[in-house]
Amino acid sequence: MGILKKITGFFINVFVLAWDFGLFIINILTPSLKPGHVVPAHAAGHHLTWPEYVPPKGDDSRSACPMLNALANHGILPHDGKNISFKELNTAVRQTFNFAPSFCFFVPKFSADFLNRSYWTGRFDLAELSLHNAIEHDASLTRQDAALVPDQGKPDLKLVDDLLKEATAKMPDGSPLLTIPDLSRALSKRRKDARKTNQAYSENLFHNIFGSSNSSTMLTIFGGRITDLTPMLTEERFSEQWEPRVLSRFGLTMAKFNGTVLPVEWGAKSKTAEH
Ligand code: HEM
Repeated sequence: MGILKKITGFFINVFVLAWDFGLFIINILTPSLKPGHVVPAHAAGHHLTWPEYVPPKGDDSRSACPMLNALANHGILPHDGKNISFKELNTAVRQTFNFAPSFCFFVPKFSADFLNRSYWTGRFDLAELSLHNAIEHDASLTRQDAALVPDQGKPDLKLVDDLLKEATAKMPDGSPLLTIPDLSRALSKRRKDARKTNQAYSENLFHNIFGSSNSSTMLTIFGGRITDLTPMLTEERFSEQWEPRVLSRFGLTMAKFNGTVLPVEWGAKSKTAEH
């Protein structure tokens, strides 16, 4: 990478972190959105109605990310999952999931960088996001490791079932709820199992943090609700009347998200140490 690119990258990251922290503060100072009104007007999913779900077929491109695949399955991103611009990804993730604009820029920009493309003009197919050890890593909760199952575009239903069964809490109506300790336990078991079954297994702190971050969206954006996570993780489909459970006016910032990711990762590490 050229020195100029490195310097620009550094300043972009500093700017994004400052922007994110600013939004974190503004979210504290401004009233939250009302349940039922989280997805903005003119965006798919406004008024809790999602475009029709059509499962992938033929050579449709899908990634290791259940939530991005769901965007394509509902036609919010192109249904074939191909030729998507990074800017389009930013908008779709912001409007659909109520992540803060700082996050919605940061992750697609990170993806453009690891694919060696421009964030501003570049395009990608969903499957390209599954580049091993970029964001995609071993010991995922919804996919077998890439060395064992090279097509990362489909969920492993046994792994998903194991994860959903970890939920120990209950919603007021009695439906199951996934908690921080549940997720830490699931991650720790999965890492232990993947180390045993995959000879090419690789793991470092970076991969672990990605693992905890990806899966912590289940606790934040999905509020841990198993009734919504079940269709999302098994069919990559939004449940009827779904909406993001984060009500912050400017979306879920990275600063706030870390309040879930770090305890999840800490818990997973401590549980692994116990074994
Ligand atoms: C902003 C663009 C995004 C990109 C580029 C992206 C990319 C990825 C990738 C490459 C993986 C595979 C990681 C692994 O190996 O486990 C992944 C997994 C995942 N992502 Fe995303 N993602 C994005 C947005 C989101 C959003 C908005 C959500 C939630 C609302 C989300 C939730 C998840 C979940 C739950 C997993 C599965 C984790 C697992 O199987 O352990 N992602 N994502």
